[in-house]
Amino acid sequence: DDLDALIAALPKAELHLHLEGSLEPEQLMMFAERNGVDIPFKTLEDVRAAYDFSNLQDFLDIYYQGMSVLQTEADFHDLTDAYLKRVAADNVRHVEVFFDPQGHTERGLPFDVPIGGILKALDAAEEKYGITYRLIMCFLRHLPEEDAFETLAQAEPWLDRIHGVGLDSSEVGHPPSKFERVFAAAREKGLKLVAHAGEEGPPDYVYEALDLLKIDRIDHGNRSLEDDALTARIREAGLTLTVCPLSNLSLCVVDDLKDHPMKKMLALGLKATINSDDPAYFGGYMNQNFRETAKAVGLTREEIIQLAKNSFTGAFLPEAEQARHL
Ligand code: ADE
Ligand code: ZN
Repeated sequence: DDLDALIAALPKAELHLHLEGSLEPEQLMMFAERNGVDIPFKTLEDVRAAYDFSNLQDFLDIYYQGMSVLQTEADFHDLTDAYLKRVAADNVRHVEVFFDPQGHTERGLPFDVPIGGILKALDAAEEKYGITYRLIMCFLRHLPEEDAFETLAQAEPWLDRIHGVGLDSSEVGHPPSKFERVFAAAREKGLKLVAHAGEEGPPDYVYEALDLLKIDRIDHGNRSLEDDALTARIREAGLTLTVCPLSNLSLCVVDDLKDHPMKKMLALGLKATINSDDPAYFGGYMNQNFRETAKAVGLTREEIIQLAKNSFTGAFLPEAEQARHL
């Protein structure tokens, strides 16, 4: 209908996307075959059946298993290029993508393999697809802070091409306070800071992300709405929330998309954005997230336009470059 056409036509930025979460079942099979990696799946249907979960940890278990088929720089290049090509079709003009270096170094790949392949694809994206980028390296919060420090050290030769650090993986039991020192070190290197907070974790974790990690943007943040003072603070500070509706539905952060707080977030004056998180696992890329959310919660034309604007004003781009898209 009309709103679908508007969504398709609007230039958008994606600010919450894990590259490893764009690994489609077909690609998983292809990379496994290409690299001779043993996987516990015989058919595409087996993989599709495994891409099914109802909470964050169940998802993460299959997500980390899935990424083991990625072995070479070419694999990371091809994965990233396929994502960029896919979202170019959704009229996405700028991406700020995450990757999980520890998901790869933990299984023995050199740090340079994933980042080398990813940056090759990202650097070609402007010419190939008209897409600009920022790259954000995430620390896995289920691992010790010491390991995050080691990852930051490995990233040193690449720091002029890494724009920020993030915090992801199993949230409950791994509060932001665990990473206060490594975030301070990243801040001193001039990196932007983001963290997943308030996806499954309580409002306290969002406070910690703000007060201790001093983040520039909140990934998810849904549970902030449980605390009025926190909500007011986020609004006053003008912090952007990178919200992921189809992810929230898949991981049962909401039981029904009709219950999604997106419309409420906008009504509260929060700078919310719509993103796909791990689209291969959660069943939809950018425009599908927009379409399904718009339909489920009844977003207006004005709200949809506001969301697209928020995606650029929330991006780590100079104002002049943001303005080019507004
Ligand atoms: N890693 C990939 N996607 C994630 C998510 N939605 N939450 C936490 N860690 C993740
Ligand atoms: Zn995420």
